[in-house]
Amino acid sequence: MRLAVIPGDGIGPEVVAEGLKVLREVAPDVETTPYDLGAARWQRTGELLPDTVLDELRQHDAILLGAIGDPGVPSGILERGLLLRLRFELDHHVNLRPARLYDGVRSPLAEPGEIDMLCIREGTEGLYAGNGGVVRRDTPQEIATEVSLNTAFGVERVVRYAFERAVARPRRHLTLIHKTNVLTHAGSLWSRTVEEVAAEFPEVTVAYQHVDAASMFFITDPGRYDVIVTDNLFGDIVTDVAAAVTGGIGMAASGNLDTSGTHPSMFEPVHGSAPDIAGRGVADPTATVLSVGLLLEHLGRADQAKKVNAAVAFDLSTRGGQDTLRTQEVGDRLAALTSG
Ligand code: IPM
Ligand code: MN
Repeated sequence: MRLAVIPGDGIGPEVVAEGLKVLREVAPDVETTPYDLGAARWQRTGELLPDTVLDELRQHDAILLGAIGDPGVPSGILERGLLLRLRFELDHHVNLRPARLYDGVRSPLAEPGEIDMLCIREGTEGLYAGNGGVVRRDTPQEIATEVSLNTAFGVERVVRYAFERAVARPRRHLTLIHKTNVLTHAGSLWSRTVEEVAAEFPEVTVAYQHVDAASMFFITDPGRYDVIVTDNLFGDIVTDVAAAVTGGIGMAASGNLDTSGTHPSMFEPVHGSAPDIAGRGVADPTATVLSVGLLLEHLGRADQAKKVNAAVAFDLSTRGGQDTLRTQEVGDRLAALTSG
């Protein structure tokens, strides 16, 4: 397995080091190539993602990314020029974000109950497609538009993936989240697509919620969800809520998948570069380690993925509320658990 590694900015390199520690324990055959991309490179050279680097990344089986973002870089430059460019160029149309409340993890909810949802966010369309513009800039008549792009092809493939995942889980339940009462054009495409694909999966029960109501239920009744599918921006927002109720962003893993296997998929913690705690060795690498688990699962290494997930579950259940473990301590514990 050839893995490209983009440690990135802030705490990115710290959590990626621990993710790789665990990966090497469970999959010693993996070959890693580090790529220097992110704020430092941009500040040094003005480069975000040179085409030659993108071509090299394409030669790998998968990519592991730490975090992108730095207070010294104007907002949007690294996001558009690096992170989103990777997701779009590599056709990462499924953004997979499990949210599970592990035993031993404190949820901010008084009575969270069992939470185990698989959020599937579309990754290459919607409001992230960059359609729009500005006219009469810097005048009182300025008009700015952002147009959400939704194609039948793009919606169908992510909805189909969501059904495939739902049918393989014990509860076999899928919720579409949208805002069909207001976004009537895109909403209709999403609803019709879910209805059509549902006919092929009679075992899966289907629910629909508007995104505002869903955001409330994520907090008041998260146990009702199994698989959820939604568009790019709604998915961005609700997966932060899902992360919050399952113990915080330090535990939220993600995979940006090209399910066709044409391009390498990319795995990353949902959290950002956290410049406020960078360099102190206190970032929780759990989300990165869980992302390594998703990576192994995606590459068909189910046994290795299980080992990683079991190590995390055991570690969390035995931390005894200790929130003060250092980044390397968590990595060492997980590596030891994985090898045993
Ligand atoms: C995420 C992040 C990104 C997104 C940003 C950094 C562009 O919030 O991965 O959820 O909006 O997708
Ligand atoms: Mn986000």
